Amino acid sequence: MGKRRATITAVGHYVPEKILSNHDLEKMVDTNDEWIRTRTGISERRILEQGATSDLCVRAIESLLAQRKIEATDIDLIIVATITPDMFFPATACVVQDKIGARNAWGFDLSAACSGFLYALVTGAQFVESGVYSKVIVVGADKMSSIIDYTDRNTCILFGDAAAAVLLEATEEEGFGILDHRLYSDGSGGSGLHMKGGGSLNPASHETIDRRMHYVYQDGKAVYKAAIKGMADVSAEVMERNNLKGNDIAWLVPHQANLRIIDATAERMGLDPSKVMINIDKYGNTTAATIPLCLSEWWQCGKLKRGQNIVLSSFGAGYTWGAVLIKWSLVNSAKP
Ligand code: COA
Repeated sequence: MGKRRATITAVGHYVPEKILSNHDLEKMVDTNDEWIRTRTGISERRILEQGATSDLCVRAIESLLAQRKIEATDIDLIIVATITPDMFFPATACVVQDKIGARNAWGFDLSAACSGFLYALVTGAQFVESGVYSKVIVVGADKMSSIIDYTDRNTCILFGDAAAAVLLEATEEEGFGILDHRLYSDGSGGSGLHMKGGGSLNPASHETIDRRMHYVYQDGKAVYKAAIKGMADVSAEVMERNNLKGNDIAWLVPHQANLRIIDATAERMGLDPSKVMINIDKYGNTTAATIPLCLSEWWQCGKLKRGQNIVLSSFGAGYTWGAVLIKWSLVNSAKP
């Protein structure tokens, strides 16, 4: 028996049905399908027409509980990574806890934008490794359409809505589970990607609304440069710390913000493009949901298998970035 580690024992996701395609956006702002696809890799994204982030979370968690054949009352802790909570307070985790009937769980929200899932995963893993809790749900969820300005072509083409969740439990099998992580933040990058209005600095007023301060603002070029370096550096760092070469990695699970950033990260890691999970074409950037959404889709189609080394890697507002190394422990009976 090895060290007690946290491992993922179930994974689920939910994407809303409504599709917003590049062609739909052509009718809304001055853009075109070709520009969006070549600059970002995105063809369409999903939009939640009714309900809030908690509703996305509930659907993702329900699928996870069914997969693991456990009840909501078995859950000890729920961490919701999001920058689009239902409300400032109460925490979306409390709303979710009530909606799913997880009467024995406590929970909290974690705000780290596109790195939210990795921050929350590492946080949840500490509670499992320490032996304090046995079943922790980590969900990455964002209803980005609630904070996007659909008259701003710089940002409205990029984002979509989704949620995906994992269940963390303990394993003592040598060398399996969440093996290593590196997480970073650099607050000096804050002005590159933020939402100015609505917080204690600029409480909602007629003026903040008139100045369109309740929407995502992004300095695309600055963020792009920082993301290319941040995601590639931290992914390489995790590989080096664990003496891994490109051939040892089965999957890179990158945050899905821009296909060019993903390609640069894979190249730096010496990975064949066939080992990179990519679904940005279908969903765009779903912020905290992108990484578990990839995991869930690849799991469902039987490509994610026991014993594989996978590297999760992200970069987002803050700036926040990081990478996590996992040896996947679940046996997959789905046919690839
Ligand atoms: N359709 C058509 N043209 C557009 C456009 C759109 N949707 N958005 C911007 N343009 C224009 C710009 O106005 C600019 O025109 P100009 O040269 O006349 O000023 C031109 O296209 C180039 O814009 P630029 O911003 O230089 O494009 P880019 O190649 O940097 O791509 C992003 C823009 C947003 C796709 C890219 O910067 C990016 O992905 N940034 C990082 C996003 C990210 O990683 N976020 C991570 C955290 S979530």
